[in-house]
Amino acid sequence: MSGKTMKALVKTKEGKSFEYKEVPIPEPQGDEVLIKVDAVSVCGSDINLYTWNQVAQVIASIPFTPGHECAGTVVKCGPDAKLAIGAKVGVENHYYCGDCYQCFDDTREICKYMGQFGHGKQTPYGGCSEYTIVPAKYLYELKRNLSGDEIAMLEPLGVAHNAVERLEATGQDVLIIGCGPVGLLALMVVKAIGCKSAICADIDAGRLAMAKDFGADVIVNTKEKNLKQFILDHTGGDGIGRICECSGASVMVNSTFSMLRKGGQMVFVGLPKEPLHVDNVLQDVVFKALTLRTVHGRKIYHTWEETEALVADGKIDVNRVITHRFPMSKFEDAFDVLFGGKACKIILYPSQ
Ligand SMILES: NC(=O)c1ccc[n+]([C@@H]2O[C@H](COP(=O)([O-])OP(=O)(O)OC[C@H]3O[C@@H](n4cnc5c(N)ncnc54)[C@H](O)[C@@H]3O)[C@@H](O)[C@H]2O)c1
Ligand SMILES: [Zn+2]
Ligand SMILES: [Zn+2]
Repeated sequence: MSGKTMKALVKTKEGKSFEYKEVPIPEPQGDEVLIKVDAVSVCGSDINLYTWNQVAQVIASIPFTPGHECAGTVVKCGPDAKLAIGAKVGVENHYYCGDCYQCFDDTREICKYMGQFGHGKQTPYGGCSEYTIVPAKYLYELKRNLSGDEIAMLEPLGVAHNAVERLEATGQDVLIIGCGPVGLLALMVVKAIGCKSAICADIDAGRLAMAKDFGADVIVNTKEKNLKQFILDHTGGDGIGRICECSGASVMVNSTFSMLRKGGQMVFVGLPKEPLHVDNVLQDVVFKALTLRTVHGRKIYHTWEETEALVADGKIDVNRVITHRFPMSKFEDAFDVLFGGKACKIILYPSQ
């Protein structure tokens, strides 16, 4: 592709927005693969990168192309990469080293030396460009026929799936706090694996309406009701057996301990911005003999295989979480919609 150019979003300096630029199409070297990006979904964390706030300065390094939820088609392989031209792929954006304790312990998603695609961490590339470069070992080759939108959505679905897998939620009453894309996808997963019931909590009526639509048995607006009181009343004072925390709201994360049943299990997915605080540590933590798991990303590549099958078999329809689609040239409109709080998941098409 030498000499040819493509459109890409790039962040080369601090400050708001991305630049929409004409840049050279890169040439894959060694084990790298050049993929044509079919779709890229915009994540809540991309807002940080767009506005370049404090969080962005921790999670990203300039220069980079954003877009870590990326679906593509293989167009060219470097001399050491063996993927078939035309193969459909999803990008595992947690760039693991393969050599550290975690990588040997089959927890590559939390690699000690992790880089991150779309964040300028060990790679300048991201999904918000017509073509992008990914080393072959970070590509998941699809076995089933999924659309580009669906493949991009396997990344956030994978986070939700990984969280729910830690919960052992089959046959259980589950409370999902936060009905953003990740919480709604977690709802779809708990429903698909046969939870007993799902209670969904959020402060946003629109998000709760989506949760109801996707099969939540009970929805709770935590602006109107005290969630802890609701859960205790709902469970005869026992507390709920399973909690999936997807809001990242510190007040909610702290309150999970007092809402959990003795011997219950919970998983933290959301990213609270303040230190955790538990009032009643003996009653609400130690004497509960609770299980707390946390997740970061997806199990590589177990989660991809599981979520691909759930979507391909029609058990989960990720398209229902997508509320807006934009050509990448209109990325500013996409971010305006996101800032307006009315969008759930937005897909961008880099070639448009
Ligand atoms: N651990 C991981 O690997 C991982 C991966 C992706 C995202 N995340 C985090 O997971 C969380 C969810 O991601 P998302 O993309 O769905 O984000 P999001 O911001 O779209 O969703 C958060 C939801 O929580 C709701 N909420 C906020 N305050 C609340 C409160 N007090 N009570 C109830 N609901 C409240 C919001 O209205 C929103 O619907 C975020 O914190 C994100 O940073 C973690
Ligand atoms: Zn994401
Ligand atoms: Zn490692």
